[in-house]
Amino acid sequence: MKILDWSNPLNNAIAPKDPIVPIAPTEKNATAAAEQARHALNDSITQNDEEFTALPPVNVDDKRVINGLTDVNQLAPFKYPWAWEYFLNANKNHWTPLDVNMTQDVHDYHHKLTDSERHMFENVLAYLTTSDILAMRNIGLAVMEKMTAPELQIYQARQVFEEAMHTWTYQHCIETIGLEQSEIYNRYRVVPEIHGKIKLANKRLNAALSSDMDLTNRDDLEEFVMSYLFFAAVFEGCWFYNGFSPIFALQRRGLMKGTAEQFQYIMRDEIMHYGFGMKVVKQIIEEENVTLDPKAIEQLWQESDAAESAYGHYILPEPMLGYNAQDHIEQFRFIANRRAKQLKHAEPFPGAKNALPWLNEQASLRKEKNFFETRITEYQTGASLSW
Ligand SMILES: [Fe+2]
Ligand SMILES: [Fe+2]
Repeated sequence: MKILDWSNPLNNAIAPKDPIVPIAPTEKNATAAAEQARHALNDSITQNDEEFTALPPVNVDDKRVINGLTDVNQLAPFKYPWAWEYFLNANKNHWTPLDVNMTQDVHDYHHKLTDSERHMFENVLAYLTTSDILAMRNIGLAVMEKMTAPELQIYQARQVFEEAMHTWTYQHCIETIGLEQSEIYNRYRVVPEIHGKIKLANKRLNAALSSDMDLTNRDDLEEFVMSYLFFAAVFEGCWFYNGFSPIFALQRRGLMKGTAEQFQYIMRDEIMHYGFGMKVVKQIIEEENVTLDPKAIEQLWQESDAAESAYGHYILPEPMLGYNAQDHIEQFRFIANRRAKQLKHAEPFPGAKNALPWLNEQASLRKEKNFFETRITEYQTGASLSW
């Protein structure tokens, strides 16, 4: 038998020569254990000089997304069964970056991409890797702790894991293709157009990360709603979606197909994150009677557009075959209108056109059609997702 190594948990992987032999509990030792536990509990109650009093059951009507009054350690009864459904569905999407063959990408990057395509490719990765760490920290450290219904937190715990997986994916691409890691990771610190998006995200999200945010205070509450709205609708709903499209443009020409496939998996997760975030935001607005200032919403879209436009021109200083900065920016505006519409807000960019009609097909896993609009058929069962 191998002794578990607590100082180096990686040593605990089970080798085939060390089969686990389960020890079947006998009725006798199970009874003895139960008796022992009861005594321990009685001793601790006596020591604390307290009588045990049964607590009243959790009342589902007391559950709230935030500022709830119920026991957050009890999962059911569910007030938000859709959140549990999101969790179950997310678990059908399991994958890792090691599942994707990257061999052809190494060759494409070094021998087929033009200088400007390489410039685009590297800067897309540089932005994404920083932004997914930010996403993980925002959900895990700022949003999740404010939720007062465990079914919401459980999905968000899965989301935190997925954001970490996405960061691993970019790292895997950077590593296998042989890019200079520290240089790529440092780019957001030295390139103003990448820094601009991260800075804007930090400005919107840092408020929610602050430990003295009090959601019973109306100003703090509105700030939190705007922060989560920015995160779900812009950061995940537009910037990730739009951020992958230049890579899908390469895939469309048969280039960098491994990276594109990785991004298809990430996209599938992000659709869920976006959908969940929007539901939570709408639920908070309803439960807490929040009225958002239309001018503040307008400002959110305009500053997001300015940051995205600068980034688009930076990654694509000249057009590449089948994709250019104008398409990139127009597509952001087109998607932004759809996100705003879902919130029943006015379109921030009236008249924006679908500049990349091929995008849905390229972003879809294994040739399934209408990935964003209808149903994931090939890798999932029983899940219907729409933007
Ligand atoms: Fe992500
Ligand atoms: Fe996400």
